[in-house]
Amino acid sequence: MNFSRYLTVSVLAAALCLPFSGAQAKTVIEVAHTQMETHPDHIALLAFKDYVERHAGDIYEVQIFPNKKAGSNEQVIDLLRAGSVQFMVISSANLEPYNRKYSVFSIPYLFSSEDEYEKFITDPKVLEELGTKNEEDGFTPLVAFTAGSRSFYAKSPISTPDDLKGKTFRIQSGRTNKDMMEFFNANEMTISFGEVYSALKKGLIDGAENNELALVEQKHGEFCKYYSYDHHQMIPDLLVGSTIFLYSIPEKDFEIFRQAALEAQEVEFAMWGNSIKKAKKSAQQLGVEFLEVNVDDFRKKVAPIHEYLLKTRPEIKSLYDKARAIGAQETEKK
Ligand code: GCU
Repeated sequence: MNFSRYLTVSVLAAALCLPFSGAQAKTVIEVAHTQMETHPDHIALLAFKDYVERHAGDIYEVQIFPNKKAGSNEQVIDLLRAGSVQFMVISSANLEPYNRKYSVFSIPYLFSSEDEYEKFITDPKVLEELGTKNEEDGFTPLVAFTAGSRSFYAKSPISTPDDLKGKTFRIQSGRTNKDMMEFFNANEMTISFGEVYSALKKGLIDGAENNELALVEQKHGEFCKYYSYDHHQMIPDLLVGSTIFLYSIPEKDFEIFRQAALEAQEVEFAMWGNSIKKAKKSAQQLGVEFLEVNVDDFRKKVAPIHEYLLKTRPEIKSLYDKARAIGAQETEKK
């Protein structure tokens, strides 16, 4: 090989990211999320990685970026829609600005138990319906992870819905969350998940709302010593893939990612209950008090929002009816 030819070949290999041996380079799959490495979402993604690499490890290398290392949810979803991040775990609330169907989960008291909610979010037909405009959306939902139920927590006790008045709470993005706070008669501030700790520290907000894990993993319990079990929402996290990416790979590879997502879902659900128990204990050690409140009082306060949302957002109707039908079936069984 003369020198100039050697140069051309090596420049070409570098441009194509091929190792110089001539072997095919693996495609790196970036998976992002904003939770800590102890969170069930992360452990589930390790199972996702394991499955993909066991079945197509000669083609793909899965790299997981936890704890907002790849950016906030709001930033990464746009990278994923453009195809430069391939998968992410994101709250359905953060997808509402792209497709209103995702707002169905943000309706307060849509479900009356976690059983109902879990049945709904693990129904493949629900995900299929959410994904009907996946080309336009730029993301494709593969599976839902449970994120338990969301309740208010604050620097002072919230015992009745009236205690929300005059206080400012951090909420996730999505118009429905703002509407809910209006119905609750409370002030709200939309803040990205990773910024809530510093907003609490700076005194920009009096509290937030989430499942118990946020008290410990995100350290919100350092500031909020009262967690009130009002269970106003059950909002899943979704493992979504970049539609551009998924449509660019062979069908059999798409199937491997789909199976890997199902394995991840099983791991996440299996871990959830224990993670919550542990988080609750650790939060109590931080001095957080867990309050049982009259859930019906909170439910009544926001009950008219269902009719309001169905009127202003007709695209949620069929998923809403499906969720309510599951609720009715469960009540009948009792
Ligand atoms: C939960 C959920 C996250 C979400 C967060 C939030 O922790 O699992 O996906 O981002 O709530 O309130 O922003």
